[in-house]
Amino acid sequence: MDASDIEKDLAQIHFTEDQIQEKLRELAGRIEQDYEGKDLLLVGVLRGAVMVMADLARSFSRHVEMDWMAVSSYGSGTKSSGVVRIQKDLDTDITNRHVLIVEDIIDTGLTLTWLVSNLQSRKPASVEICTAFRKPDAAKMAVPVKYVGLELPDEFVVGYGLDYAEKYRNLRCVATLAPHVYS
Ligand code: XMP
Ligand code: MG
Repeated sequence: MDASDIEKDLAQIHFTEDQIQEKLRELAGRIEQDYEGKDLLLVGVLRGAVMVMADLARSFSRHVEMDWMAVSSYGSGTKSSGVVRIQKDLDTDITNRHVLIVEDIIDTGLTLTWLVSNLQSRKPASVEICTAFRKPDAAKMAVPVKYVGLELPDEFVVGYGLDYAEKYRNLRCVATLAPHVYS
C-alpha cells in the first residue's frame, strides 16, 4: 500500500497540510499572548485531537503541560447525542489551573459543552477551548469557543486525526471521502 492508495479514496481536499500548520501557528501565537505569565495545561480529547495537540504544542516557545481525556458520546451514525461517558480521565488535578481544551473538530458542540461543565466542576482557574476545525452547527453551541482554526462545511471529513472507521487519521490534510469508500 503506498500513499496514493489513500489518496484514491479522497473526493475533495478541504485544507492542505500547509494551511492547517499556518492556522495552528497563528492560534499558538494568540494563546501564548493570552496566557503570558500563567501556567497552561493543554487537555487533548482522544483520539482525534492527537495531531492537533502535537502540532499546536510544538508551535509554542513557552512551557506547556499536556494531559488527555477520552470521552465517548453516544449518537446515531455520525452525529453525537450529548450523552457522554468518560473512558479515560485526566491524571492531573486541575484545581486552580488554567486549562485549555484542545479539540479536533466541533460539530454540534454537545460533547464539548458537557466536557466544559465537567471540568468547571473541578474548580480550575479557567477553562477555554481551542479547536482546529468547526462545522456550521457549532454556532448554536452554548459554550463560547475562544480559539477556532478553520471552518468546514457540514460534511463528514477525515484526516489530520479525524477518522472513518478508525482509518484516515494519519492523512496530513483534511478531506471528504469518495462515495466508493462508503459502499
Ligand atoms: P459534537 O457534535 O459533539 O461532536 O461537536 C464532535 C465530535 O464528533 C466527531 N466528528 C467528526 N469526526 N469527521 C470525523 O471523523 C467529521 O466530519 C466529524 N464531525 C464530528 C469528532 O469525534 C468530534 O470530536
Ligand atoms: Mg473528537
